[in-house]
Amino acid sequence: MINHLPKAELHIHIEGSLEPELMLTLAERNGLPAPFSSIQDAQAAYAFSDLQSFLDIYYKGAGVLITEQDFYDMTWAYLLRCRAEAVLHTEIFFDPQTHTERGIDISTVINGIDRALQDAKNQWGQSSHLILCFLRHLSSEAAMETLEQALPYKDKLIGVGLDSSEMGHPPSKFQAVFERAISEGLLTVAHAGEEGPADYIWQALDLLKVSRIDHGVRCIEDEQLMERLIAEQIPLTVCPQSNLKLCVVDDMSQHNILDLLNRGLLVTTNSDDPAYFGGYLNKNYDALVEHLNMTQEQAVQLARNSFTASFLSEQQKILFN
Ligand code: ADE
Ligand code: ZN
Repeated sequence: MINHLPKAELHIHIEGSLEPELMLTLAERNGLPAPFSSIQDAQAAYAFSDLQSFLDIYYKGAGVLITEQDFYDMTWAYLLRCRAEAVLHTEIFFDPQTHTERGIDISTVINGIDRALQDAKNQWGQSSHLILCFLRHLSSEAAMETLEQALPYKDKLIGVGLDSSEMGHPPSKFQAVFERAISEGLLTVAHAGEEGPADYIWQALDLLKVSRIDHGVRCIEDEQLMERLIAEQIPLTVCPQSNLKLCVVDDMSQHNILDLLNRGLLVTTNSDDPAYFGGYLNKNYDALVEHLNMTQEQAVQLARNSFTASFLSEQQKILFN
């Protein structure tokens, strides 16, 4: 039943959907050394101890993406998963700096991803939005430069976000960049409270004016913050399998997503980097059933929340719900 529930996905890094098989194909197609000698080697390397240990491998994997067709093929493979898993709407993150730092033009990245989104829309009515993420381990000046490079493609973007290494890179570092993005009519989101403290969630809300918090699971450590998130119904895009694989929780049975849901927070479930964390959106719902005894009502609530928390217009939300 849950696998067929119509749902939206609001936290998926498209570079995190690059499966080892396609990675090896693209390395060969582009005449690059393969990041791994086999699919088995890649899967064996996907044993992470924290966020940074994952990011090191994730950025290495993304190095096989060179041409517009590469970005198209990666995005297309993810969109086929959406169709198979009843993900009627998806809001996709991409990390342009991972590519522009290697000399790839931002137009190559955006046009490749966008062409796949348009084809899926035309072929089966796939609904989607695209969110540009700044890498927070890089400077705020680099983020501002990236925003300027992206502005000619503004019509293809719904908003901007903030990802990569959280500790030591507080949201406050990017306040001016987010102000500029907002002045250009873009919405804002940010990863906060994944590994970082609850204070980073406050900063994301107050300084970056975010509409949603990505992850946010550490909000539970701050009762005043919990009350604000409930009162203002600020969505959290939680990623259970990711939290397990990156050791944010020791065991899925200890995940707080259903506690947050039961307290009245607007939580959603998402896959984050499905090629690295062992599964797409339905796997995340399944894990909650298996390890947290999630009820059908709770699953339906999470699916409903995913549309409520989306950047669809109110009219589109009515059509989907
Ligand atoms: N980039 C890709 N996945 C991420 C995550 N879970 N946290 C921060 N940055 C990311
Ligand atoms: Zn993420």
